[in-house]
Amino acid sequence: MSVTIARPRSLRGEIIAPGDKSVSHRAIMFNALSNTGTATVTNFSPGADCTSTVEIMRALGVEITREPGKNGMGDSLTVKGVGLNGLTEPIDILDAGNSGTTTRLMSGILAGRDMLAILTGDDSLKSRPMGRVVAPLTNMGAVITGRADNTLAPLVFHGGSLHGSTYTMPVASAQLKSCLLLAGLRANGTTTLNQSTESRDHTERMFSAMGVNLQKVGLSLVLEPSELETVDVEIPGDISSAAFWMVAGVCHPDAELLIRNVGINPTRAGIITALKMMGADLTLVDEREVAGEPVADILVKTSQLRGIELAGDIIPLLIDEIPVIAVAAAIAEGETIIRDAEELRVKESDRIHASITWMNGAGIEAVGTPDGMIVSGGNSIGGGHFQSYDDHRLAMSLGVAGLVSTEPITILDPDVAGISYPNFWKSIENLGGLVG
Ligand code: S3P
Repeated sequence: MSVTIARPRSLRGEIIAPGDKSVSHRAIMFNALSNTGTATVTNFSPGADCTSTVEIMRALGVEITREPGKNGMGDSLTVKGVGLNGLTEPIDILDAGNSGTTTRLMSGILAGRDMLAILTGDDSLKSRPMGRVVAPLTNMGAVITGRADNTLAPLVFHGGSLHGSTYTMPVASAQLKSCLLLAGLRANGTTTLNQSTESRDHTERMFSAMGVNLQKVGLSLVLEPSELETVDVEIPGDISSAAFWMVAGVCHPDAELLIRNVGINPTRAGIITALKMMGADLTLVDEREVAGEPVADILVKTSQLRGIELAGDIIPLLIDEIPVIAVAAAIAEGETIIRDAEELRVKESDRIHASITWMNGAGIEAVGTPDGMIVSGGNSIGGGHFQSYDDHRLAMSLGVAGLVSTEPITILDPDVAGISYPNFWKSIENLGGLVG
């Protein structure tokens, strides 16, 4: 299967961002562990990743219902909490599909339980580093084995007994942070996480709303074992999905796009900062708060972009958006340099290699570095046939490239977009960009 995208004469319209993937996973997992009743989760992410989380929680004995949402919103779910210790032994292997978030957060949930559980996923997932969660969970008393000396899935959880620990995070990873906080809920004693950089804080926000005893001291997190109270969650729109339209809008020569209902949590909003640094005409409209998360509509218009340097603390705040920032970098005047982003090498694909490969194929001067890339801007983007590397964000970044390129771009295996954004190609069609 493939799709071909060509630049429409103008790019105008309104788009509703689908429910946030990170918040959706957490709303299901945390409410499943609550002991105070049934929670309602609305505008749930339509992506396959979050469905993997729902199916795994069901396999662990949690009752979850799912109904289509109203007025263009995502599905509505109910989750009946079983309490921190109420999960039951699964009768089969748990399949996280393509989802790193499911695997790493579930590892914190499954660690140190009086049951056997095996967690696996697709080929991409089985190649992603899991030692980063296995090692600290083992230190906390969990017994976990896995392939390649306990660093790769399938991971096998054999039980153990958890005690709190003080841990210095070796990477700025919200998945690792959340995994250890989840384990800490059931551990004996205090869990302290020292971080050198901020990463997305949805877990901290939801834990606070659910009554968890979690303090932030500077960048360190201090958690006492706590029960969770059920909380209803209206999921904000996903800024990582909105990012595709932001970049398309600022790069297209005749564009005005209004993206509705976008979560703008500061620990996720690095894309807004980066595009503004590049000179983007981007306005936040109707800023409001939804379920403890800041939300706005975002208006983007055709802009004259310039190259920038992205490095350091901003990287974790836009890590998932770098493949589409590369599209903006190709169009911008001057060089864009991205550093400190070596985590891109271990995402759903090696996103540095994949981005450089397609950009070079489309006539853009760009080189990969061990921890980022250097893109010579001011290029128009040419056409061609490109692989999606089985990576949803790569496929959709190529779709954006097609909306702003001089020649059509054909994307192979586009269905992978369904991992986070099943309606993405339909929205491109509605904007007049789908030609085959
Ligand atoms: C996520 C955290 C990020 C991000 C991923 C979702 C989360 O991963 O890339 O898409 O929901 O916690 P890391 O925390 O491993 O960087």
